[in-house]
Amino acid sequence: MLPSAGTSVHMAKVVIVGSGIAGLFAALKLEAAGHEVNVITKQRPQDSSTNWAQGGIAGILDKTDGEAMQSHINDTLLSGDGICDEVIVRCVVEEAGDRIRDLLAVGVDFEKEGEDFHLVKEGGHSERRILHAKDATGAEIERALNMAVAQSRNITMSSHTLGVDLIQRVHGVPKKGVKGIWCLCLDSGEMKAIPADAILIATGGCGHLWERTTNPSVSTGDGLAMAVRAGASNKNMAFFQFHPTALMSRNKTPFLITEALRGEGGVLLDDDGLINYRKGDDTPDKHSFTLEFSDLGSLATRDIVARACDQRMKVTGADNVWLITDHLDKEKLRNHFPNIESKLNEYNLSLGVDPIPVAPAAHYMVGGLSVDINARVLQNNADPIPGLYGIGEVACTGMHGANRLASNSLLEAIVFADRASRHFISNPINEGESVPNWRADGTHRLIEHAPLVRDLETLRKTMTDDVGIVRSFSRLNRAKRMLDLLETEVDLIWRKSIPTRELIELRNLVEVAKQITDDAMSRTENRGLHYNKDLI
Ligand code: SIN
Repeated sequence: MLPSAGTSVHMAKVVIVGSGIAGLFAALKLEAAGHEVNVITKQRPQDSSTNWAQGGIAGILDKTDGEAMQSHINDTLLSGDGICDEVIVRCVVEEAGDRIRDLLAVGVDFEKEGEDFHLVKEGGHSERRILHAKDATGAEIERALNMAVAQSRNITMSSHTLGVDLIQRVHGVPKKGVKGIWCLCLDSGEMKAIPADAILIATGGCGHLWERTTNPSVSTGDGLAMAVRAGASNKNMAFFQFHPTALMSRNKTPFLITEALRGEGGVLLDDDGLINYRKGDDTPDKHSFTLEFSDLGSLATRDIVARACDQRMKVTGADNVWLITDHLDKEKLRNHFPNIESKLNEYNLSLGVDPIPVAPAAHYMVGGLSVDINARVLQNNADPIPGLYGIGEVACTGMHGANRLASNSLLEAIVFADRASRHFISNPINEGESVPNWRADGTHRLIEHAPLVRDLETLRKTMTDDVGIVRSFSRLNRAKRMLDLLETEVDLIWRKSIPTRELIELRNLVEVAKQITDDAMSRTENRGLHYNKDLI
């Protein structure tokens, strides 16, 4: 059990939407303080982006090591390309040790080397400071948190339940703020109204807006869209992070090849680089095209490396670049990266031997709901919406600036899950209002899903072609026109249909796509992950 974040005098009812690291961590904190928590999640409890996170969690455990903390702060600021909120970065780095110890207390088993934790490095980190559980860190964290949640007395897990919209005064409840949530029970097809004294949105990102993503199928921007419809502000949506090294395959959710592999010496080469490397007796790094983009080569920050891969593939016409590991110690690699090794074997590739074909894929939403230092969701980028918090990938705290430093996301998630919980525990709302049922007048069962499937394909193609790694004003304008049309089409279906998962997700994805495109169009400079070739 996580240590209590404070003492509660009232027992309030809190709904947490999403069962990744942020949602489960907050659930345990709130429950430990005596609150009743209902976690609603779209698929099974473990079906989250956290579960797919490979690399690890960055953080300094020793609070007295000011130098190490300052170095983590500096790397984060550098990666964020000048627009991180330094107060937030400092706060997250300083609270890292305590929160990681909370994870250890729940039973998360990070890799050790003797008495100490084994630490790895990823792009943009100047030191080894990332704790990991081989190459499946997120799965280990999900395992431990879900086990603790299952053993708790006051946390109810509602699986296969999809949040649809937040219930507010405009829906007939007397008080200001968010008072509950309408959900679709995916097993029964029934809509349900759940009252809540507070709602924590922890629904993760929206990688399924693009044709290739490292995200699980649940990442469709549901929480962000729902909160925006309820009046929440969002910011920095133009900064969407593409991971440089997803395995090249026809799969729309290609397997991620963790950046930790480059931290251990893996190098990116293009076709010519590979030929030249094979001809000579040099190490592969000398032949990497990434050196044209940064002196750090394959270990530069993710924005730079993903753009380098994208540009190189466009120039050469190749579908992928190559990740080279044959110059590294095979035993060490296989011990550290067993999941990657076994996945590569499925493709008749061998870690430490074969060049691995990789290409960028949509990975992480750096922008998100505008939140304050206690994770309260803001409207007009200023005033908290009573009872509404945003934690994890869905929230934009200011930590990541214009480009997230690798392995800072799991850390940010636990720090802000804790901050949201502590804030609610010290300022509980316990009004127990009843909430109205979902109004289904004049709606009918959706007979044909084919138009939704087509609209979703159009949406993904538009985002891939026009709102990808490299953008231009004409392409963004084209995307905007297409998104307006899709919005009209989806709205027509929405107004006359009983919601289904496909319809809800499409409506949410279109909403989030509009936020990303609008933010990208409004930017007058290239920074971090936003790169518009008309602005060079
Ligand atoms: C990776 O393992 O490369 C991904 C980790 C992250 O996105 O921070």
